[in-house]
Amino acid sequence: MAETKPATGLSRIFARKSVAQIMSENEKSELKRTLGPVNLVLLGIGCIIGAGIFVRTGNAAALHAGPAVMLSFVVAGLVCACAGLCYAELSSTLPVSGSAYTYSYTTLGEFAAWIMGALLLLEYGLAASVVAVGWSGYVVSLLGDFGLVIPPEFTGPMNHVTTLKDGTTLTTLFNVPAFLVTLVLACLLTIGISESSQVNNIIVAIKVTVIVAFIVIGGYKVLTHLPELSKNWVPFIPENEGEGKFGWEGVFRAASIVFFAYIGFEAVSTAGQEAKNPKKDMPIGIIGSLLVCTVLYMLVAAVLTMLVNYKELNVPDPVAVAVDSMGPQWAWFAMTIKAGAIIGLTSVILVLMYGQTRIFYAMARDGLLPKIFSRVHPKFQTPWINTIVVGIIVALAAGLFDINVLGDVTSVGTLAAFAIVCVSVIWLRQARPDLPRGFKVPLYPILPIFGILSCGALIFTVEQRVLHFFFIFLVGATAVYFLYGMWNSKLAKGEFVTGHEPAANELPHKLD
Ligand code: ALA
Repeated sequence: MAETKPATGLSRIFARKSVAQIMSENEKSELKRTLGPVNLVLLGIGCIIGAGIFVRTGNAAALHAGPAVMLSFVVAGLVCACAGLCYAELSSTLPVSGSAYTYSYTTLGEFAAWIMGALLLLEYGLAASVVAVGWSGYVVSLLGDFGLVIPPEFTGPMNHVTTLKDGTTLTTLFNVPAFLVTLVLACLLTIGISESSQVNNIIVAIKVTVIVAFIVIGGYKVLTHLPELSKNWVPFIPENEGEGKFGWEGVFRAASIVFFAYIGFEAVSTAGQEAKNPKKDMPIGIIGSLLVCTVLYMLVAAVLTMLVNYKELNVPDPVAVAVDSMGPQWAWFAMTIKAGAIIGLTSVILVLMYGQTRIFYAMARDGLLPKIFSRVHPKFQTPWINTIVVGIIVALAAGLFDINVLGDVTSVGTLAAFAIVCVSVIWLRQARPDLPRGFKVPLYPILPIFGILSCGALIFTVEQRVLHFFFIFLVGATAVYFLYGMWNSKLAKGEFVTGHEPAANELPHKLD
């Protein structure tokens, strides 16, 4: 272990890893460069398409934007494109496969990296809970088609009043399917099972087929019944009722909800060391997957809100409800959609939890979290205690909390993380103009600044209680840094991590 000069006093919180340092940490990596631009786009789509489009779009349309939820996708897509271009520049400049956590450590310093780690807990960990709740909605619905009914009390969050199909109301206690699926997937991750790129490609094919089939079949129904169904688009932007309900205010509020549907595109930037030609292919992977998804999302939103009046879409399985509205002869198609959604959502939960464990692993390796989070199981070669802890946290959140609250907190945390990534690009351009950059954000500095401002603006569209929670979370995270992270950081202590432990991306996890 090489020694570097320990940071002292307040300078500790700005201590940075140098580019040479992160390269040395990753130099042991012998990952094969097998991913071309198409694989990278598919990798992005594999993480992106999930509960956002299959579940949250319904809520955003029903409660906030009406049919204009299509426009919300454009707004959220533009915000993500700015952040995506910034991710692309960082990934082509800092030659490590890492997440925004590593980028922040190298640019803005240790405290920013710590805050980024906390935000990524929301972006990955909590997002996995959201997708698990979405998964539960589609599973309960599909089982219902086969006459298997799970007692409704055990299919929703704690203390939540819900109206059943027969009009009666009841209070739900715990979301058992969401809790169980998370624990099962955490067990798989613990024993080292995750997706290989081939499995990812198959699951992406299933998800995209289901979505395209919905657009084509639903679109055909819309076009052949246009006079009657077009009434569902009147008014296209329902009148503003205040508090983010409808009008343009509602469109922006819904943008922060459907923003969830884009989370995951930056997963492409974590595959830097497996890309054949990272400089060229990473931006293609990031922006390409964003573009494909934006087009698909807008078309799904258009067909969804034409087939069914937006007021009826605040349900756990809106896409299936829209197909049901096409008549009993389409029951098989509704069931196919549910099965496709269940498979797709399962893989998203797995990928998000995997990402979360690797972020905790990297933080523990840097001394910012207890060592136990980087302990690798001798047989499975996975960070098993870390994975179990993540599994339990994600499962409890999925079992106890409402999808809308969980989703909003995830969106806010991710928007804040994206804003920090945009700041990092500006910082690095000023501090290290000499570094070779394979890709440069166009229209610099306008786009990164627009990214920061637009992420900030979307954060403030969410409910007050979500903002309060977020604020308390950040204060708590800051306190833990000053009580623990700052005193145990290997960088601040002058301990240079030289790769004696495997880097997060080197842990074997692929089932090829
Ligand atoms: N974008 C992912 C989803 O919608 C997280 O499920």
